[in-house]
Amino acid sequence: MASNDRPVSLTGIKPTGAATLGNYLGMIRPALGLADQYRVLYFIADYHALTTVHDGPELCELTYDLAATWLALGLEPGEEATLYRQSDVPEIFEIMWILSCFTPKGLLNRAHAYKAASDANEQSGTTPDDGISAGLFNYPVLMASDILAFDADVVPVGLDQKQHIEIARDIAEVINQTYGPVLRLPEHRIEENVQTIPGLDGRKMSKSYGNTIPLFLEPKKLRKTVRKIVTDSRPPEEPKDPEGDTLFALFSAVAPVDDVEDLRRRYLEGGTGYGEVKDDLADRLIALFEEPRQRYDELMAGRATIDRILDEGAEHARSIAGRVRDRLRTAVGTAR
Ligand code: TRP
Repeated sequence: MASNDRPVSLTGIKPTGAATLGNYLGMIRPALGLADQYRVLYFIADYHALTTVHDGPELCELTYDLAATWLALGLEPGEEATLYRQSDVPEIFEIMWILSCFTPKGLLNRAHAYKAASDANEQSGTTPDDGISAGLFNYPVLMASDILAFDADVVPVGLDQKQHIEIARDIAEVINQTYGPVLRLPEHRIEENVQTIPGLDGRKMSKSYGNTIPLFLEPKKLRKTVRKIVTDSRPPEEPKDPEGDTLFALFSAVAPVDDVEDLRRRYLEGGTGYGEVKDDLADRLIALFEEPRQRYDELMAGRATIDRILDEGAEHARSIAGRVRDRLRTAVGTAR
């Protein structure tokens, strides 16, 4: 298919820490799987990370880390695939201003992240906006701009991002009602069967809970991390309950169906210890990420490849976002 015939899949990840198994299964792998039918635009949302990461060298390092991660996991930049860094595309921020003038403030009041932060303040009895930056409040508008600036058709994300895509659509609709069809309405795309990958402690795997399995740990550390998965204290000989067991859930997320069914049977029969299952899971994770981990290490050792790819990506991204920006300027009356 020629490039312009393909629909566009676009998504971003914030550089806030090493990518986890949850990120990979829930979002990165499904997004990469779209690369043979879509024109993919995948990026590093570094200005979104700036709402929380306030250490300059750290943000810079995390950005390289995430670029290397996308590439190591199989994103192949070329005609139909682009990797770029959000902050390299100034058009996004110009568009963001235009969008913000059509964004009902009440829509942002209801956005989950802002609402959670202000509800927490209310609970603790401080002022409603204590510690909340305008950047956090405007986060959904920047995200809408990320998406609308590229005429994205689909946005592969985790379930937690659904509201943000809805907000992007809402904003685009206001613009289109005002000026006619200027912006394309995006659809979210959520991987239904892997919506929540549990973390080591059984809660959703999340960097903010400190319960993650990072992808590119060296084998020994990966095994040690897997051993920390919390289980009940049933001894090996006793039958076990696959439902509600975090170890079983994680095993199911990475092993083929037949192996999962086999483990289910062994759980119900008894005679298999959790330690043994953890070792099996660790072996599988080590094998699964061995090659990507080598590529990741190589990319991180010599940054020149990443720099070149991000430069090329930025150039391509700017040309697309520039056209959408021009369309918007013409519509709103700031083009001469
Ligand atoms: N908010 C997203 C997250 O936290 C990251 C993100 C920023 C994004 N811009 C985007 C995702 C645009 C999809 C499309 O995961």
